[in-house]
Amino acid sequence: MCSQQLISCFANMWTLLLITCVAAVSAEPLTYYGDKVFRVVPQTIEHVELLKSIASLTKLDFWVPDSVSLLEQGKAADFRVGYDNAFDIQALISHSGMPFEVMIDDVQMVIENQFTSKVRSGHSYEKYNDIETIYAWTANIAAENPELVSRSQIGTSYEGRPIYLLKVGKTGASKNAIFIDCGFHAREWVTPAFCQWFVKEAVNSYGSDPQFTNLLDTLDFYVLPVLNVDGYAYSWTNDRMWRKTRSLNKNTNCIGTDPNRNFDAGWGTNGATSSPCSEVYSGTTFESESETRALGDFIRSNLSSIKAYLTIHSYSQMLLFPYSYTNKQAKDYYELLALSEGAVNTLSSLYGTIYTYGPGGKTIYLSSGGSDDWAYDTGIKYSFTFELRDTGKYGFILPESEIVETCEETMLAVKYIANHVLNNA
Ligand code: ARG
Ligand code: ZN
Repeated sequence: MCSQQLISCFANMWTLLLITCVAAVSAEPLTYYGDKVFRVVPQTIEHVELLKSIASLTKLDFWVPDSVSLLEQGKAADFRVGYDNAFDIQALISHSGMPFEVMIDDVQMVIENQFTSKVRSGHSYEKYNDIETIYAWTANIAAENPELVSRSQIGTSYEGRPIYLLKVGKTGASKNAIFIDCGFHAREWVTPAFCQWFVKEAVNSYGSDPQFTNLLDTLDFYVLPVLNVDGYAYSWTNDRMWRKTRSLNKNTNCIGTDPNRNFDAGWGTNGATSSPCSEVYSGTTFESESETRALGDFIRSNLSSIKAYLTIHSYSQMLLFPYSYTNKQAKDYYELLALSEGAVNTLSSLYGTIYTYGPGGKTIYLSSGGSDDWAYDTGIKYSFTFELRDTGKYGFILPESEIVETCEETMLAVKYIANHVLNNA
């Protein structure tokens, strides 16, 4: 193989090896070969304790609920385990008599098959777009539709990225507004795809679809395509499973705060932790993150016009309204319940996708510091969290082939809510 003198041959091989290693560290995302996602349904306290003790010995990445601390008897839970431990954990679970199912047999295979669109470069509404592509798209869609779309920067992330907001609606008179955000949690990739789709639909429907035209004439929509810009960027370059922000924490190597535990709504209580290594770390105080503070500041400054707040997450197929930090009933419970029922019914009418709905605490789990509860307590009556597709077949790694249907059906629910807001706020 080496035709040169032996020494220079070795030198060349070292250089090659070094270059390969440096490239691997900076450019290749983490891989998940052989990782599995299990769904378990703990039936007894012993089952819950077993899962907690497994979680204390090895890293379990909880998908639903978001943390081992939120496990409840009788409720299904999905979590990812590493290849090295999957076999032993399956044996323990099986031996305990706890019902379980393997939802994903090899997480890496699902990651590698997530890109199903033929379009691989540039922007497309039918594929996942990285943060740079989304940034460029925000500039373009505003430049191309000056009567309908304008872009502003509401803040800067921990790592210095801009946080852009699009204002969508017929310009002119001051109007009531609906605020929609996506990309709170980095790995929920279908959510920025939805925010982009919403803006596209608005632009394409204006002047041709009477119902949407009416909404755009009478309301403004603030659309924030990616709130957690650092986390989203990181989920593309380094770790597809990243959830939190990317801020450094004191006295630990663990990075990030859960942005949806970082608002002033029962902050630091149920379903959040003060441990920076947890996926549901609430931060040092509410709005400790520059991203959540940017959102909070914008909404506070525009409180007189913002009548609805919709925050888009995935996955679980749920429409949630306050409260999540407590089991107390919201004062608008019956109106929000009926509105959710209508929204979910129209969503299902398109492809039969089934959504559950109700107050967050009872429907998904008790968890504090959420932006929906904060917005509600700040005075925005129509405050909802969407959990988009699916129910766990692919979970966060929904293939691109489902973007179109997911966005189309979600549009129906969002427009349904918008019409209610128009007629009632
Ligand atoms: N999966 C979302 C989360 O845990 C659900 C949010 C529901 N609302 C809430 N305030 N916890 O962040
Ligand atoms: Zn989420």
